[in-house]
Amino acid sequence: MEVRKIGIIMNGVTGRMGTNCHLERSICAIIKEGGLKVNDNLTLMPDPILSGRNKDKLQALAKKYGIEKVTTNLDDVLKDPHYQIFFDSSGTLQRKGFVEQAVAAGKAIYCEKPTALTTSEALYLYRLCVDAKLKNGVVQDKLWLPGLRKFQLLKHQGFFGDILSVRGEFGYWVFTGEHEGQPAQRPSWNYVSQMGGGIIADMHCHWRYVIDNLFGEVKSVSCKKATHILKRYDEAGNAYTCSADDSAYATFELQNGIVCQFNSSWDVRVRRDDLFTMQVDGSKGSAVVGLRNCMAQAHSMTPKSVWNPDVDSDVNHYEQWFEVPSTMNYDNAFKVQWELFLKHVVLDEPFSYSLLEGAKGVQLAECSLVSDEKRRWVELDKLEAEV
Ligand SMILES: NC(=O)c1ccc[n+]([C@@H]2O[C@H](COP(=O)([O-])OP(=O)(O)OC[C@H]3O[C@@H](n4cnc5c(N)ncnc54)[C@H](O)[C@@H]3O)[C@@H](O)[C@H]2O)c1
Repeated sequence: MEVRKIGIIMNGVTGRMGTNCHLERSICAIIKEGGLKVNDNLTLMPDPILSGRNKDKLQALAKKYGIEKVTTNLDDVLKDPHYQIFFDSSGTLQRKGFVEQAVAAGKAIYCEKPTALTTSEALYLYRLCVDAKLKNGVVQDKLWLPGLRKFQLLKHQGFFGDILSVRGEFGYWVFTGEHEGQPAQRPSWNYVSQMGGGIIADMHCHWRYVIDNLFGEVKSVSCKKATHILKRYDEAGNAYTCSADDSAYATFELQNGIVCQFNSSWDVRVRRDDLFTMQVDGSKGSAVVGLRNCMAQAHSMTPKSVWNPDVDSDVNHYEQWFEVPSTMNYDNAFKVQWELFLKHVVLDEPFSYSLLEGAKGVQLAECSLVSDEKRRWVELDKLEAEV
């Protein structure tokens, strides 16, 4: 059995996503498992180097996770042919510069979403990789959440009949940081436009690939955005003015006629099954999809509802739903996608989540913002690179 080291430059991983989702739960988890066994003769062993600006932070992180190598000199490490993959989870505004550098060095590119804030820049990054004949990918983690995988199983088995509509509810209360004992649980740049913040830029790129993959191609969008909370406190405890949208109320119309409504908000308190739920209604059955669970109600189990608010209802509307059982080991969603990308890079296996798909997400976010500004429906063009 050959154990082949795969050099990966991990850039910007001192941040929230980089540390938790990519370093700890993906790359370190794969290493801990003894690498990614791809066949009887070969195991791929990630060999990461952490890159960033602050040596102390990088060293502390490396020590915590037992990683040997860190660097503050990206130029130098990009020259080293041992590193095949460049991964970026720095801020959205930094993405372009880092991807350009890594493409020039001939690395396979994998990065967090959004890949950019404008469709043209996102497409430019995709084309840069294609022209340099480099493998490329964007994080689309939600596709491998257990709840969504259970939904896919129901769908493939024809449970829903014709899917009619989808209602997505995403959000939770993000503390403003004003009160001691309730620290903000998201970085402050999320709430400042000039720093790449905004819930539409953040979440609508997720909704694009979730909808495209589960329900059908998005045709058009109508969106209303809001900045409900105008003052928050940053990591140093200083008050700042929020300029970016913290809530978005959107309707997406699909090519196949399905209507999807998605609310996204960092200013809502949760009384639903999960921080993200999606109710899917079909002619033969419905489901409420959460992050880990999926509740379903078949047509034959649908109670007869009669509108009469004058009396207490004898129907408990939670009772006719069953929980789709877990039938496999649902590994961490980010890790699953990392494994697919590693196999894509090393074994040339197919990988559907390229920077072009990333650009489609950016396009939906951009069109949503245009819809809000112009107060009208916006059609999504086919991206030039797809035609
Ligand atoms: N897939 C998801 O579900 C998901 C969720 C949240 C955020 N994100 C995306 O992940 C990225 C990071 O978000 P986060 O929440 O971890 O933010 P964060 O602020 O916690 O982390 C950003 C990191 O980038 C580093 N960085 C910033 N500028 C840099 C520079 N010039 N050079 C090197 N490093 C630099 C910071 O030091 C920090 O380590 C963003 O693009 C965000 O949109 C993805």
